[in-house]
Amino acid sequence: MSVGKPLPHDSARLHVTGAARYVDDIPAPADCLYLCFGLSDVARGALSALDLSKVRSAPGVVAVLTAQDLPFEADTSPSAHDEPLLAQGAVHYAGQPLFLVVAESHLLARRAARLARVEIVAQKPILTIEDALAANSRFEEGPRIWQKGDARTAIKAAPHIIEGRIEMGGQEHFYLEGQAALALPQDNGDMVVLSSTQHPTEVQHKVADAIGVPMHGVRVETRRMGGGFGGKESQANALAVACAVAAKVTGRACKMRYDRDDDMVITGKRHDFRITYRAGFDDEGRIHGVEFMHYTRCGWSQDLSLPVADRAMLHADNAYLLPACRIESHRLRTNMQSATAFRGFGGPQGVLGIERVLDHIAHHLGQDPVAVRVRNYYAEAHAAAAGASGGDISLQEETAGSAPDLASRGALAAEPRGAGPTVPASAQTTPYGMEVSDFELHGITRDLLESSAYLSRRKAVRDWNARGGVIRRGIGLAPVKFGISFTLTHLNQAGALVHVYQDGSIHLNHGGTEMGQGLHQKVAQVAASRFGVGQEHIRITATDTGKVPNTSATAASSGSDLNGMAVRAACDTIRNRIAIFLAARHQADPRSVIFANEQVQVGGEIYDFAQAVGLAYMGRVSLSATGFYRTPGLEWDRVRGQGRPFFYFAHGAAVSEVAVDTLTGEHRLLRVDILHDCGESLNPAIDIGQIEGGFVQGAGWLTSEELVWDERGALRTHAPSTYKIPACSDRPDIFNVALWDGQNREDTIYRSKAVGEPPLMLGISAFLAISDAIASCGTAYPALDAPATPERVWATIQQVRDGF
Ligand code: MTE
Ligand code: MOS
Repeated sequence: MSVGKPLPHDSARLHVTGAARYVDDIPAPADCLYLCFGLSDVARGALSALDLSKVRSAPGVVAVLTAQDLPFEADTSPSAHDEPLLAQGAVHYAGQPLFLVVAESHLLARRAARLARVEIVAQKPILTIEDALAANSRFEEGPRIWQKGDARTAIKAAPHIIEGRIEMGGQEHFYLEGQAALALPQDNGDMVVLSSTQHPTEVQHKVADAIGVPMHGVRVETRRMGGGFGGKESQANALAVACAVAAKVTGRACKMRYDRDDDMVITGKRHDFRITYRAGFDDEGRIHGVEFMHYTRCGWSQDLSLPVADRAMLHADNAYLLPACRIESHRLRTNMQSATAFRGFGGPQGVLGIERVLDHIAHHLGQDPVAVRVRNYYAEAHAAAAGASGGDISLQEETAGSAPDLASRGALAAEPRGAGPTVPASAQTTPYGMEVSDFELHGITRDLLESSAYLSRRKAVRDWNARGGVIRRGIGLAPVKFGISFTLTHLNQAGALVHVYQDGSIHLNHGGTEMGQGLHQKVAQVAASRFGVGQEHIRITATDTGKVPNTSATAASSGSDLNGMAVRAACDTIRNRIAIFLAARHQADPRSVIFANEQVQVGGEIYDFAQAVGLAYMGRVSLSATGFYRTPGLEWDRVRGQGRPFFYFAHGAAVSEVAVDTLTGEHRLLRVDILHDCGESLNPAIDIGQIEGGFVQGAGWLTSEELVWDERGALRTHAPSTYKIPACSDRPDIFNVALWDGQNREDTIYRSKAVGEPPLMLGISAFLAISDAIASCGTAYPALDAPATPERVWATIQQVRDGF
């Protein structure tokens, strides 16, 4: 069976040879025009004059459009209809598009855009959390508050109390392929748009509104993206709408791609957060109650900020059973790029909040941070775990140092998973009232501690640091439990379209988009498995709104869960038709027909798959079908913060070890061990790739990637020269990634689990390891903020040395 095989990405060869075509590689028609936005360099104010005469007369310029020149109101918001394509008088951030240049070439458009004379009556921008709170500048009237029990009283009554705060920066997506779109006018006023988007249906919708046609007048195609990471969930709308409007106005094809600097200055990024906390706990470090305040800067428009901030709240517990908890979330409106989806969608920020709390508790009590974490874990809630007790992983030094190699790991994994205490599922709920009935982290943590030799290495780190040298070491473990499903329940649906041709080759489309994550390959493996044929029979072509309509964004890690199921349904429809037809010919039971090994077996007869298909065609059997899937069992009230927003949880854990130079604050990742839960993996090679990439991107977020805005609200880090993503040389010297051998307890596609986002949070282990290294320099708890750049690490070392 194709499912479960570690096949390479279906475009791997094209990617590495440079032959894979992205929007900007697709040959444009000879008369194509090219677009560029003119941007505001003021963060907040009112447009008082816009003199575009020099722009209009510049070489190669065909048209220049302002908000007033647009044929219909063009909005690019995915949510609140608050993002005009071009500023309508009010200016909300430095980088906001003010006008659109349409020219004969990309370069001529860019040159012309610089010639505008723009006058803006500037106002003091709202930039910081303090600015926004003082001005009560926010989305939604007040903070959102969710609670479980009475946290305040629980904290007061607890033997120990800590409080603190952590700031965490945002993150630029830095997809290698910048944003791009190409609009091709058709007869009858229709438009075809090629877009580098995670959400073709939304582009279709936004373009249709902007050119004044029903959605059937717009067809959007996405073959692939060179990375999206959430940054092309809503941020692709503007380019597609601009191209379509310009194509409508000029009657010519129009293409737009952002220059890297423009891309960074115009588009939204990960939300930065400040999280303050108070926690009450006992001598063992068991949390009795915890309170969080989340403050997040959402930028100028609402975009996806509400569900992002919700997801941060939904992950404020991460892996821990919190008896009492209160989370208050402030979604602040600021004069900056509109913060948007980014891998994890707020989850990582919420998780880092509680991980900081656990780390702080362990430091306060002088106990091992892993032991404290495990004591606070949710219990394993399945009956098979009987016999285990306590939930406390033995952290005796004797058990250390005998890390089994990867070969013997299989044997370990075959043993029963009775690692944690058992409870009836209903006895443990998240702060939002969802039962946790599929918790896997006891077993994962136990196996990972062994395979990473955590205990002996922790001792070695302590011994090393005791020598008091300039280079300090640190080690940290971070678990993750991540909720899978869109929290906007209706988005949890998908469709597919499958054709089987007379020669037995299979062509399929589904609603998901390919951004490098290997979705098409996984879905093709599902189709191959349903028909019992090899991978080479399957072809998946560009995602196309004309083939599968009303799709959700490829997001929330649910691409393969949703589309895999929809494709399965479509394949099974066709397979059953063939089975019924052949069974009738052989007077057999259709249920006895077997599709396997490129063959179809029926009533003692064996046909090649292509032969069987040919017979079905001659028998006038339809060989084309749609498929549909919706996730069962979801129910969520976001106002009350109660329900079951997730179908299931995906888990994983990582141990990172770092060396920190205490004179410069620089660090290096020495070794990383990861054990991650993909359920029954659809494709272990792709899943391991997702885990490696997710970890590195998460570690980048928390260490080297820093966004800096100046006091005028201009983004100063708008190019790779000033914004530092991890390079190849930054990856850990030793990087062991393994898949937890388990099954999804829910009925997902072949019992697999989503993997796109959860591993990003494993990068938190690198941050914890740095904090651990800093802690060795003094006695105070290192209140390290993220990203842990050399400057910040160095400053925190001084604080720890000074004892505060
Ligand atoms: N992997 C690659 N290579 N490129 C990407 O852009 N995006 C991530 C993740 N992995 C991304 C990626 C994000 S933000 C999500 S939500 C998921 O992939 C989306 O794809 P899936 O639902 O098919 O996992
Ligand atoms: Mo991913 S942030 O859900 O696109």
